[in-house]
Amino acid sequence: MSALTHPAVGLDEPIRPTALRIDLRALCSNLDLCRRHLAAAHGQQAPAILAVVKANAYGHGALPVARALEAKGVEWFGVALVEEGIALRQGGIRAPILVLGGAYEGGWEAMRAFDLCPVVFTEAHLEAARCHGPLAVHVKVDTGMGRIGVLPEALPAFLRRAKRSAGVRVEGLLTHFANADLADDSVTRAQIAAFEAALAEARAAGLEPRWIHLANSAAVLRMTRHLGSHTLVRPGLMLYGYPPSPELRNLGLEPVATWVTKIIHLKEVPKGFRVSYGQTWEAPRRSRIATLPVGYADGYFRAFGNRAEVLVRGRRCPVVGRVCMDMCMVDVTSLPEVAVGEEVVLLGRQGEEEVSADELAGHAGTISYEILCAIGDRVPRLVVAGAD
Ligand SMILES: Cc1ncc(COP(=O)(O)O)c(C=O)c1O
Repeated sequence: MSALTHPAVGLDEPIRPTALRIDLRALCSNLDLCRRHLAAAHGQQAPAILAVVKANAYGHGALPVARALEAKGVEWFGVALVEEGIALRQGGIRAPILVLGGAYEGGWEAMRAFDLCPVVFTEAHLEAARCHGPLAVHVKVDTGMGRIGVLPEALPAFLRRAKRSAGVRVEGLLTHFANADLADDSVTRAQIAAFEAALAEARAAGLEPRWIHLANSAAVLRMTRHLGSHTLVRPGLMLYGYPPSPELRNLGLEPVATWVTKIIHLKEVPKGFRVSYGQTWEAPRRSRIATLPVGYADGYFRAFGNRAEVLVRGRRCPVVGRVCMDMCMVDVTSLPEVAVGEEVVLLGRQGEEEVSADELAGHAGTISYEILCAIGDRVPRLVVAGAD
């Protein structure tokens, strides 16, 4: 194990026994799988890859992830915030970085200083890019996501203005899908058609963007043949080893993160003993209750109480009672041999068993993305396998 990344700088090992183990070999294997998909659909003309590493690489640790992917030849990185882009540059990342969320006022100088590329979609962005240029920009078109982007009807005028803006070079055109993870692809196809029209508008305005991109993980895995002349794809979740939709479960993606902790306290309790706030769990028999030093302040959701399971010695054990801020309890009655100090897996594989982010998401009425992003800063990220 190496490269402990933790806000408490200077520590080689976490003091509290919990960490998110980051398997860079699995990350690289997921990248290879992405490349194989693209090559199968496009052969030699396969689009380049922009790895989405926003939100601390979906909780995995942006720097170790980006360094491993850059070493594997990933062409671009995507972040949400200027701040995230700066952190990558300060960590030595040299590949182009696209700021997907655009720049806020105050971010434009940093765009230039740290060689970041903004996504632009308002006249104010064009003006700021002109003032702080020369800058290469990617124009975002809202083809149906309804979030950020120039609406198709406003696009011709926007592109003409971009073309006239001295020091602003439109080197990319992009859009984002709203429903690419759904089996019904009608909305995605309509978005593709709208994007093709936007590309034609750009060319009519005398622009020839080199980077044309639409695909997130779901579109890479399901739609790449239908994405026209795209030259870049933007996978996020699949690189971290999770399928963006359930029917893509058996593709061979490998989860990158394993969240481990240890039993810090263990007690035998009588039938009828109650556990945690609200005393919502009552021992149905004489039981062994283990306390784990992880709680909702670490991103182990309160909603997991009385629902989730953890892995101990490769066996599933239920979380009993409410999850507290810094601790939770599990019933290990079925494992009489376990002792204080025993390793416990909260997320990931142990032996033949696995607790996936999708499983945890199911307990909290959310999606795997949120489970991963919610793992708190105070859980150290520990790199356990070097990139191959
Ligand atoms: C603009 C943009 N592109 C690509 C992605 C990557 O999506 P996914 O993680 O589903 O691959 C995201 C993630 O939300 C995004 O916001």
